[in-house]
Amino acid sequence: MNSGVLGDARILWRLLRGKPAGGSHAENLQAFYGPQADGYDAFRARLLHGRHAMLAALEVMPGNVVVELGCGTGSSLDILDEQVDGLGRLILVDLCPALLDKARVRAAGRSNVMVIEGDAARWRPPAIADRVILSYALTMMPDWPRVVANAREMLRPGGRIGVVDFHLPEAANPVEKLFWRNWFAHDGVDLSSARLAELRRQFPLHFATEERGPVPYLPGLRVPYFSFLGIRS
Ligand SMILES: C[S@@+](CC[C@H](N)C(=O)[O-])C[C@H]1O[C@@H](n2cnc3c(N)ncnc32)[C@H](O)[C@@H]1O
Repeated sequence: MNSGVLGDARILWRLLRGKPAGGSHAENLQAFYGPQADGYDAFRARLLHGRHAMLAALEVMPGNVVVELGCGTGSSLDILDEQVDGLGRLILVDLCPALLDKARVRAAGRSNVMVIEGDAARWRPPAIADRVILSYALTMMPDWPRVVANAREMLRPGGRIGVVDFHLPEAANPVEKLFWRNWFAHDGVDLSSARLAELRRQFPLHFATEERGPVPYLPGLRVPYFSFLGIRS
């Protein structure tokens, strides 16, 4: 069990060391997240804000085919909880084997949940999707415009996309922008306002909010993030 202060210390050490940049994108993700996999959920529950509200707004329906791109450890399974049993299929996709191992443990015994190793920019589901989820994943995907286009393509007309991620508000002052951009770049998170703008463009029918939430161990610091709900036209 890797919980509590010791688990947090391991995660913080990895975050301080930053995401390696030497190998392929998949290799770098594995090198970064492999040592964090045990403590990932406990730490990220306090850092990745807005996931519960985004998944509630997505309104998954019985029988739906739901795809999560960049699923990590599959923590959305816990958030969706009993709704998962009624789904047609929940497909969890990620490029990092260490985090997918955790997702497989979560999905064990659920015959309608598939866990897939694949690249969100290219992977396509076997059936058209009713819902697509991207939770704190777009900012870690180098080819994110292609991921947004791919997500749109896999959705049926009227289907919904729910996205929550770190963000740089247009209104932030230049010093704050510089601070957050550098802070996140160290861990492979590319911060800008471009993702929210592209989502708005690709999904003209949408609802979006820009918010802030606390950062573990850093009282007073409020990290900006956005929530986005789009409907495929
Ligand atoms: C910050 S984690 C978020 C995980 C999870 N969605 C959550 O909310 O806890 C970002 C995830 O995106 C995955 N990822 C990054 N690039 C990817 C890509 N091109 N295709 C699939 N997954 C990718 C990483 O492996 C990682 O699991």
